[in-house]
Amino acid sequence: MDFDTLPYADFDQIFYAPQFAADCLGITTKALRSFEDEPGMEVRRMNRGSVPARVYTPADLFKIASIRRSKGLTKTLQRPLTISTFVQKGGTAKTTTSVNLAMYLGFMGLKVLLIDNDPQGDATSMLGYDPDLTPEELVDLGIPADRAVNGSLGNIIATSSLFAPKGLADVIKKPFGEYGPHLLPAEGLLEDMEVAINASANQDFRYALFISKGRKRELPQADLSGYDVILFDNAPSGSLMTRNSMVASDMILCPIRMDKFSCRALARLGNKLQSFAEEYQRSPDVAAIPTMFIKNRPRAMAHLAALSQMFPGKVTEGKLYFSEDYSKALESGLPVLGWKGASENSAGAMRSVFGEILERLVQM
Ligand SMILES: Nc1ncnc2c1ncn2[C@@H]1O[C@H](COP(=O)(O)OP(=O)(O)OP(=O)(O)O)[C@@H](O)[C@H]1O
Ligand SMILES: [Mg+2]
Repeated sequence: MDFDTLPYADFDQIFYAPQFAADCLGITTKALRSFEDEPGMEVRRMNRGSVPARVYTPADLFKIASIRRSKGLTKTLQRPLTISTFVQKGGTAKTTTSVNLAMYLGFMGLKVLLIDNDPQGDATSMLGYDPDLTPEELVDLGIPADRAVNGSLGNIIATSSLFAPKGLADVIKKPFGEYGPHLLPAEGLLEDMEVAINASANQDFRYALFISKGRKRELPQADLSGYDVILFDNAPSGSLMTRNSMVASDMILCPIRMDKFSCRALARLGNKLQSFAEEYQRSPDVAAIPTMFIKNRPRAMAHLAALSQMFPGKVTEGKLYFSEDYSKALESGLPVLGWKGASENSAGAMRSVFGEILERLVQM
């Protein structure tokens, strides 16, 4: 996909009206208002017509989500989990799913680290960072220097001299503040990860080891103990990088378009998971999400039936519908779940599908 003309949105200048804000958090506007008096919470008012009305930035919402969590008002996981988005086919909304799921889980009060594991850096771009330009080049374009990428997973794992070792704190991005999803971005250089993994011992377990040690605070450069969910966005290829993320995962998330090729890609995944189970004694759960779905198409329904047969119990009840909101949100520089113009057909459907995913995560 082409992110070259992606616009710059200043996330601190995005203001949501109470109803949209409440929808993001899955609460009523009355409940939303009750957080106004919490310590450290400062809800702004803006003139809408003649009366000043409350407005909320994305960062406000994630902060309220974390307060809700501290009061025991949100769902919690039994253990920290790792998820990979993967379908061995391009353009099936993998990145859209990863980025918006990271937003959704954040709104539900979970601490999320989204790792962009695709050297194309699409998840990175979707959250407003530029995988290609230098800080100086960005400033020349009127974009803040911190929207530049200063390293990727390669620099944090640094298994090879191809990557300069860096600390997570120096590389990580927090587009919506501390309480929102964190992003470990990608840049073109991440491509070398393939070579680095290939040259290392325990090839298939580099990421799994990294995560398990990071969660136990055994890595000086990366403390991962604070994250409930680590979510990998993958390239469409079956590379060593992708394989590593899958071996490290508790759940594989597969957004599937209702066409022959996507269903075939999913069948291949089925075979792959079976060999995983034999080889590593690991079998991550699968969640297949019908996406770019067009209602009332007989062929789409036939593919859906085939899909459900292939992965019984694994296909979400809800679907993500084909909608222009996705490209319009991109044009506004925001993921669809954070874009005010999103409708029931896009953001509404997405919340319901991700609600099902969260329900499964809670059970794991
Ligand atoms: N439900 C939808 N309706 C319409 N357009 C969509 C929908 N979901 C995603 N898109 C658009 O489809 C395009 C591809 O999406 P995305 O980048 O998420 O796919 P991908 O699977 O990550 O691609 P790649 O294989 O290149 O990594 C984007 O322009 C996105 O905005
Ligand atoms: Mg992608």
